[in-house]
Amino acid sequence: MALPSEGPLQGLSAVVTGAGRGLGRAEALELARLGAAVVVNDYGQPGRDGSGAASAAPAEEVAAEIRARGGRAVAHTGDVADFQQARGILQLAIEEFGKLDILVNNAGILRDRMVFSMTEDEWDSVIRVHLKGHFNTTHFAAAHWRERSKAAGGEKVYGRIVNTSSEAFLAGSAGQPNYAAAKGGIVGLTTSTALALAKYGVTANAICPRARTRMTEDVFAGFRPPDEGLDPLAPEHVAPLVGYLAAPAAARINGQLLVVHGGMVAIVERPRVRARFDSKQETFTHDELDALLTPHYADRPPGETFAAAEVLGLKRG
Ligand SMILES: NC(=O)c1ccc[n+]([C@@H]2O[C@H](COP(=O)([O-])OP(=O)(O)OC[C@H]3O[C@@H](n4cnc5c(N)ncnc54)[C@H](O)[C@@H]3O)[C@@H](O)[C@H]2O)c1
Repeated sequence: MALPSEGPLQGLSAVVTGAGRGLGRAEALELARLGAAVVVNDYGQPGRDGSGAASAAPAEEVAAEIRARGGRAVAHTGDVADFQQARGILQLAIEEFGKLDILVNNAGILRDRMVFSMTEDEWDSVIRVHLKGHFNTTHFAAAHWRERSKAAGGEKVYGRIVNTSSEAFLAGSAGQPNYAAAKGGIVGLTTSTALALAKYGVTANAICPRARTRMTEDVFAGFRPPDEGLDPLAPEHVAPLVGYLAAPAAARINGQLLVVHGGMVAIVERPRVRARFDSKQETFTHDELDALLTPHYADRPPGETFAAAEVLGLKRG
């Protein structure tokens, strides 16, 4: 299938991390279909928990697939969580395509365990790949855009960051303390980046995707794909939103969190203050807090927390 010669991302250059498989692969193909030149990054380890030897094959195969369709793509096979290798991903985009316009942070691993059983290594490795991985590429991309803006006398440049959070953060996930924390951290990084880079013409948004990939094959094993048509859990349902957020049309969308899967996009509202209490003295006493907070929480259903379990019920209408 040949790519269209004029798409909304024509002339733009993109990096997609973890693009050798799953969601990242679908997103890289979509960005290329819309006209972007793409750096396909993937470290290529065989285990979804980040185990096994790194392999160049997944990134190279997706880059070749894009080129076979008439697009522009190069592979980068480094570890996104290594600061210097992450610098290399952004440098490759600049060397090959002259500049960077779009950064899609997607690479991730899973090492699930209840908090009481989780090892230090399980915690560190998931935080490292997701949260530090997102920071690393964001840092080098942001420095690139700031430098270009300065060189242009303070003019705005074009920049788009799409980060990957998860419903595990929104809804809470008892068996994934490391993953839920990393994904919450990514939302914090996204809003911080959105505020810091708006003046340079750069937006940063985060998605909570849902898709059948090697990461979730056991979770979704019970949901059989239909015999015909697109699987409602196909990664191809997530990719169009990533392509849209990367495009000029999405210039006004910044610092947002969107849930996306199966032909549906839901915009998550920012947290709101539900109740407020003021001390009658200079500051609160224990008894005063008890008198205010105990009645407030008395009628709360047990298990209701800051987590928004209702997002798990979202589906296409
Ligand atoms: N699949 C879902 O339903 C779902 C839900 C919420 C969030 N996510 C997130 O979406 C992203 C993609 O997940 P997926 O489901 O496609 O999983 P996947 O395992 O199919 O793909 C992840 C890719 O990231 C690569 N990767 C891992 N560590 C890397 C590193 N250090 N550097 C570079 N590449 C690395 C892997 O090799 C793999 O190809 C992840 O951030 C994941 O947490 C997925």
